[in-house]
Amino acid sequence: MSMLNSKKIHIKTYGCQMNVYDTERMADVMAPHGYRTIDTPEGADLVILNTCHIREKAEDKVYSDLGRVRAEKDRLAKEGKRMILAVGGCVGQAQGAEIMARAPYVDMVFGPQTYHRLPEMLARVERGERSVVDVDFPVVEKFDTLPRQNTHESPSAFLSVQEGCDKFCTFCVVPYTRGAEYSRKAADVIEEAKALVQQGVMEITLLGQNVNAYHGAGMDGADWSLARLMKELAKIDGLERIRYTTSHPRDMSDDLIAIHGEEKKVMPYLHLPVQAGSDAVLKRMNRHHTAASYVEIIEKLRAVRPDIAISGDFIVGFPGETEEDFCATMALVETVGYSSAYSFKYSIRPGTPAGEATDQVPEEDKTRRLALLQGLLGRQQFAFNRSTVGMEMDVLFDRVGKYEGQILGKSPYLQSVHLLGHPELAGKIARVKIVEARESSLKAELV
Ligand code: 5AD
Ligand code: SF4
Repeated sequence: MSMLNSKKIHIKTYGCQMNVYDTERMADVMAPHGYRTIDTPEGADLVILNTCHIREKAEDKVYSDLGRVRAEKDRLAKEGKRMILAVGGCVGQAQGAEIMARAPYVDMVFGPQTYHRLPEMLARVERGERSVVDVDFPVVEKFDTLPRQNTHESPSAFLSVQEGCDKFCTFCVVPYTRGAEYSRKAADVIEEAKALVQQGVMEITLLGQNVNAYHGAGMDGADWSLARLMKELAKIDGLERIRYTTSHPRDMSDDLIAIHGEEKKVMPYLHLPVQAGSDAVLKRMNRHHTAASYVEIIEKLRAVRPDIAISGDFIVGFPGETEEDFCATMALVETVGYSSAYSFKYSIRPGTPAGEATDQVPEEDKTRRLALLQGLLGRQQFAFNRSTVGMEMDVLFDRVGKYEGQILGKSPYLQSVHLLGHPELAGKIARVKIVEARESSLKAELV
């Protein structure tokens, strides 16, 4: 085909790993239509901003980037070339036609559940439709029509198994932007995993907004849990590492906890957001767990896998959060001991219950609390990293580093590890010794 690779697409990814996965799949959808991926919007025929709506900052970034891409679009127009500009992802879903009003130079808007229809939307724009907005939720159709992941280069891949969320935490837009919970069929997941492994993938991270709520149709007719699914995936030869994210404490079932002790391919790491340490705040967040029930889960996990690394998400300054509530968060962090974590100031999200609360926390309190929390989490991360110095471990080297001969990889605990002088190990799993710890990375030597 002469069309092949003649057009250029640039997709910018914001936000979570689900978006990273979606971006790759968008590229897969467009490849058969002659689009090859480029790293900047310069000279692109199609630019997609795959956006995030989780906090206000993420959303603001989209609008400022849109302005910049527009400048390139205008420049190309002067040369007689047309760039089609699209907003996809969760801002697209949440704001739909509003984006067209605010940024009329945008040609199309779509959400996380309709990007399999990209070629169709594009054809409509090319036929002269002024603005195409597609923000349905045909999630089953999407997974059934997406092409296979076909150009995977890294030895580590994401695989989306579950989408959407029915939990309705009162601060969160996800149930509105990603829609109701949906689990893919186990057979489809396994087929996709096998195809990835055939392309050289050794590590798969199963993705879902609520991944441990997975309950897809199994290969034996029964619904399968995430643990059951991972057991099946673990049978795939050549697949060495299995991870999953993000989990909700309420769905940490006993079989899922147990698999951390039973299945070697399931990595000793768990991202388990707790959000806050005060039960009063957790209740107002509609989290359906307490600080104590969370700690109990961590204890059970450590009973079956003593070295498991725990990561989390935190929100400070949720409406009505008192100084005492915040101290409960600090106390919980002390109790758990995190290997890494993400923490945020509460951000008002339109349409969510907490966004309407009248007892919003002043910005300066949020700033101070976040600094204290991040200080503590940073010290814990450094301590965790130091505790691995002297250890020998298998590292999957999945990237080349900034320096000549340097490669970067991930430890079983998802620490970033760098190694000098062995570029031949890029793309491989190698046994290394950790010789030095920094706050957010480790230095290794070959054993
Ligand atoms: N404000 C701040 N942080 C939020 N998160 C979700 N919604 C908000 C919000 N409105 C955080 C939570 C979640 C992570 C993905 O983003 O900690 O776990
Ligand atoms: Fe948002 Fe809560 Fe669902 Fe996570 S569990 S996606 S925080 S509503």
